[in-house]
Amino acid sequence: MADLPTLIGETDIQQRVGELADEINEAYADTDLLVLVGVLKGSFMFLSDLAKRLRVPHRVEFIAVSSYGDRESEEHTGAVRLIMDVRHDLAGADVLIVEDIVDTGHTIVYLKELLQARHPKSLRLCTLLHKPDRTEADVEIEYLGFTIPDVWVVGFGLDYAERHRTLPYVAELPPDQR
Ligand code: PRP
Repeated sequence: MADLPTLIGETDIQQRVGELADEINEAYADTDLLVLVGVLKGSFMFLSDLAKRLRVPHRVEFIAVSSYGDRESEEHTGAVRLIMDVRHDLAGADVLIVEDIVDTGHTIVYLKELLQARHPKSLRLCTLLHKPDRTEADVEIEYLGFTIPDVWVVGFGLDYAERHRTLPYVAELPPDQR
């Protein structure tokens, strides 16, 4: 399999992850309980690398959601459903959602509403990537890795039909490979 064109290389990702960890370490220096909520599957690599660099005490939870229908189709409504919930109570915790990408923004709007109802002390978002040209919802991103153009990206957690997810860099998937 030929290498895909790199959009963000491994070194650049790791440097940015380190910078984000520094910001988070500073922001949550006095936290009693920081809970990282990784959104499956896409966030698993980013969360892993980020968490290794955190010096503040933290716990890791995972949540899984899915959007109804084919996200590229006309009928795609943006509706999101819960596939797997977190295991522990989030009341009173500083909750940081960890995402690989904010695309339309519907997933994060759904998750923020869902998790806000659990009465966390604070609720913020850390995402590796943001594609603002496609974002339809009003999304506040407290910790952002990279803003990217409207191209199909894979790698570092992101897939195309479950392929390319474990590449250590973010690549652009050319139209003839979809
Ligand atoms: C991706 C990504 C985000 C969501 C963002 O997940 O991981 O969770 O889409 O899209 P949105 O901003 O348009 O809502 P996907 O549904 O592809 O599932 P996966 O992470 O399991 O691959």
